[in-house]
Amino acid sequence: MEMEQQVESERSGGAADHAHDVLIIGSGAAGLTAALVLAEQRRVLVLAKGALDGGSTNWAQGGIAAVLDEGDTFDNHIRDTMIAGAGLNRRETVEFVVENAPRAIARLVELGVPFNAEAGSLHLTREGGHSHRRIVHVDDATGAAVQKALLKAAREHPNITLLPGRTCIDFITGRHEAARYSGSGRVWGVYALDEASGKVEAHTARATILATGGAGRVYQFSTAPRGATGDGIAMAWRAGARVSNMEMMQFHPTCLYHLEVKNFLITEAVRGEGGRLINPRTGKRFMAFYDAERMELAPRDVVARAIDAEIKRFGLDYVHLDISHMPADFVRGHFPNIHDKLLGLGIDMTRGPIPVVPAQHYTCGGVLIDLTGRTDLPGLYAAGECTESGLHGANRLASNSLLECFVFGEAAARDILRRWDSFEAPPPVRAWDESRVTDSDEEVVIKQNWTEIRRFMWNYVGIVRTNKRLERAAHRIALLTEEVNDYYGHFRVTTDLIELRNLLQSADLIVRSARARHESRGLHYTLDHPQTDAEARDTVLVP
Ligand code: FAD
Ligand code: SIN
Repeated sequence: MEMEQQVESERSGGAADHAHDVLIIGSGAAGLTAALVLAEQRRVLVLAKGALDGGSTNWAQGGIAAVLDEGDTFDNHIRDTMIAGAGLNRRETVEFVVENAPRAIARLVELGVPFNAEAGSLHLTREGGHSHRRIVHVDDATGAAVQKALLKAAREHPNITLLPGRTCIDFITGRHEAARYSGSGRVWGVYALDEASGKVEAHTARATILATGGAGRVYQFSTAPRGATGDGIAMAWRAGARVSNMEMMQFHPTCLYHLEVKNFLITEAVRGEGGRLINPRTGKRFMAFYDAERMELAPRDVVARAIDAEIKRFGLDYVHLDISHMPADFVRGHFPNIHDKLLGLGIDMTRGPIPVVPAQHYTCGGVLIDLTGRTDLPGLYAAGECTESGLHGANRLASNSLLECFVFGEAAARDILRRWDSFEAPPPVRAWDESRVTDSDEEVVIKQNWTEIRRFMWNYVGIVRTNKRLERAAHRIALLTEEVNDYYGHFRVTTDLIELRNLLQSADLIVRSARARHESRGLHYTLDHPQTDAEARDTVLVP
């Protein structure tokens, strides 16, 4: 990957401190979808932290939801999405995404994504909360295939420049204009740290799309990759954009429990294809006590809470997920990557159960956008997991999030193309000011604070919440914010420091949102307010 970064940086030549037509931050499903649409008419620069395939997209397993079966309908998919989302979804968004899903899949097929097929039709698997088989997939490693196809198309496009190894720090707005210092909220681009040289560059553009993924790493246990530190959400908040429903953090029920391998997901499709959850102490299935009708295929919040309750009640370290009653060839055929990975760890899923625990998995809240991907800030669009579009509500339905990336990545790009003549060229902007900072002499502070945030977020702001726990978390956040701001004001930025600042900002937004919701709904479950209010209301934070 080192090699790739070098080559692509060279290809982009003097991209630093230059203006582009459109700037995209993030090279996952949302960012690259937008880039490919925009590149039909405009020149696009895509910036990414670390490697180009370092986001969650590359790790997605189960697949992408779309109504493709004759017996299924858009209404079914809409209903399932809104049931999972506990009524907090915005119906027009759900309709927009569901109705655009088949087209999004067709576009991926055109790009060469090798979806599994059977007798001439795409194979559809099933996951929790879906009333029909509706998930297109590439074995049990859909995300890697999608990421590969999108990257290939982007690399081959003459209008797209890919620049990995850039950690974006903050937006360039009216405050940073060199000549007139308008102070407006207009976004003109970003300041980004070149991870190799340690220099901060200014990248400006007529329009910017934020596609930086989620904030999962704010939790001690998460299936998300290392870079999911909520950077884009924190940047947008600092620049003045509203964020919404940040308390709705999704915990996936089945992350592998292993002392060395901490964040390996066991796809929900294992339960979709017959996997059973078993209490290792009693040797019995337990989902009947929590959701007798839907059992293992209840929505994620229900299954994750059930596992959490069993673990706490019986003092367990994990529960068992067992699909070994199915024929070995079937299991190997459906889940080749998971099977091989587990076998390497000494677990044979064709012969016995897999130890699993819940772990943070998806950020349902984020930067508030409309159906065109516009944020509150002129010139700034957003798409994918960093946003709150109204699709997921209080809990995301499985395999709806890659879909959201494709639909909103395209919607944002098309809106920019439609409005192109109204976007002014960016003005000259001020260079990043390093005159008052020095190199850090105490990087241990960063590591200590990272660990502390992730631990108290897991313990106090996890699957089951209380007023007291949230208050404790808020108190810790206030103390750490003072410390981190002081550190940030004195030392030269590094990726670790930028991420720590954003992680803390994300934790703050999550806790503030959780404290503002005085009911239990979907993923927000609190012992102090167990009731669900008659009316579903978004938690919208205004900077
Ligand atoms: P990402 O793919 O996360 O990409 C984020 C991009 O932003 C990266 O390029 C990153 O480098 C860049 N970035 C971040 N911060 C900065 C910064 N400061 N500066 C510059 N660049 C930055 N969803 C499904 O629908 N189906 C599934 O089967 C599925 N399985 C999943 C399995 C796992 C293990 C995980 C973790 C998630 C899964 N999801 C699944 C969720 C889904 O993968 C994500 O929601 C989706 O891929 C997010 O795409 P994105 O484009 O918004 O962001
Ligand atoms: C999974 O494969 O279980 C993850 C699917 C998703 O997150 O949508």
